Amino acid sequence: PGTGLFLPERPNSHGVDLRDRAQREAVETGRGFFATHEWQAAPLTAVEAPQGPSDPVANPARLSDTVGQVRWAVPETVAAAASAARPWQASAAERTVILNRAADLFEANAGEVFALLHREAGKTMLDAVAELREAVDFLRYYAARTEGGAALGIFACISPWNFPLAIFTGQVAAALAAGNAVLAKPAEQTPLIAHRAVEWLHEAGVPRTALQSLPGAGEVGAALTSNPTVGGMAFTGSTETAQIIHRTMAKHLAPGAPLIAETGGLNAMIVDSTALPEQAVQAIVESAFQSAGQRCSALRCLYVQEDIAEDLLKMLTGAMEALLVGDPWELSCDLGPVIDAEAKAGIVAHIEQAASEGRVIKTFPTPDRGHFVAPTLIRVSGIDQMTREIFGPVLHVATFKATQIDKVIAAINATGYGLTFGLQTRIDDRVQHVSEAIHAGNIYVNRNQIGAIVGSQPFGGEGLSGTGPKAGGPLYVDRFRRHETLLMGG
Ligand code: NAD
Ligand code: ALA
Repeated sequence: PGTGLFLPERPNSHGVDLRDRAQREAVETGRGFFATHEWQAAPLTAVEAPQGPSDPVANPARLSDTVGQVRWAVPETVAAAASAARPWQASAAERTVILNRAADLFEANAGEVFALLHREAGKTMLDAVAELREAVDFLRYYAARTEGGAALGIFACISPWNFPLAIFTGQVAAALAAGNAVLAKPAEQTPLIAHRAVEWLHEAGVPRTALQSLPGAGEVGAALTSNPTVGGMAFTGSTETAQIIHRTMAKHLAPGAPLIAETGGLNAMIVDSTALPEQAVQAIVESAFQSAGQRCSALRCLYVQEDIAEDLLKMLTGAMEALLVGDPWELSCDLGPVIDAEAKAGIVAHIEQAASEGRVIKTFPTPDRGHFVAPTLIRVSGIDQMTREIFGPVLHVATFKATQIDKVIAAINATGYGLTFGLQTRIDDRVQHVSEAIHAGNIYVNRNQIGAIVGSQPFGGEGLSGTGPKAGGPLYVDRFRRHETLLMGG
């Protein structure tokens, strides 16, 4: 149990130790039942509501593998669900028990969760284990924070596909912990795992009137953000979508309805000439390429001090060569696919543009089936040459001279984003100087810059990267409650 400010009252999930033979075999057996299973998802509403057409969901690593079918919500489904929504009337103590029970159910169904994460979201085993742990940690961390202040009423939660269980569950659990009624819209790419998560929350005891699920694309999200009964919004996704939502909310929702937005990043790492090369290369590979680069926290622009650049890049390309790109169901897979054809086309176009300008330092052949993109290094003059977040396994590299470090910091800050930042150095004064000067929500020194742990590393950005407060931190649930002072005055 933790004793510090951010540490949870109870330990985080133990996850699965794949080095332990018994645990590994249990995982193999558990997920084995779901190797060819086809799941069904549909709107889960408290009243009968209109529904849209249905579509198959394909495995992004093996397009011939049908993972299931989804029946979509339509804007009329949102209207019916909103009118049936009722804030959760259970006491704070009951909410705690029920959210903890849901966490236990998630863990008890680990095999199914892993199979869904591999087959619907293209997640490797390493990522799948971490994602289940994070979802369980969110449930238990927010379950310990049900006391304090009144619910806002109806909360809409809109989530991305890249953490289809953890972020979906985190938003929903925080809104429920505060006693709200939740209308949850998972990303259109990953409706199946969200559907199971909602079924487990219902089974744990959350009433249907307090939690309804509306699988759909942007038009369903837009129907939520313009429904005047919605009292607050939690959104995780791209900065562009957050800006659209903010404008729509301003037109349709009551003044003071909070928007909790966790958005994109143009994340940098600085490696100076005193850094330990093996440590730096491991941190770079994990930060840029784990989850096929599909993390908001992922490293996008590496700044290497000129004096060590040649040697470091040689080591880095050697490490990239050892990465296994393939079907994430295989335990040996390091990099799975990107999420869909559209994502792949955008990333490949970016690489081709760089290649036409002679800026590709290293890339590799990719499997021709599925939506795979090989890990790739692209040369840039600086982060100011990057105008948008490329959401895949592509790392941009710039060099700097020892005297230019403040210029580099200024360029990173000038992007306007501020999510994660990494620093590799053995100079203590530099750690202090750089971490004070950089504008980023999560700063990591001499390690990778992904995989924040609920309770001990609250996660969230500033500027174009988010509105705060940080997820998995002590202030998060409070934003899902009523604050009278925000609603007063002219
Ligand atoms: P996205 O913005 O395309 O979609 C996110 C969600 O918004 C989806 O559910 C989508 O259907 C919905 N949506 C789309 N248009 C909408 C509209 N007009 N109104 C309401 N909802 C709408 O993002 P994505 O591609 O799913 O996710 C990747 C992005 O998410 C990246 O930019 C990544 O950096 C960001 N992200 C941020 C965090 C964080 O904690 N800061 C975490 C994960 C992902
Ligand atoms: N919380 C996730 C990470 O830190 C996004 O990588």
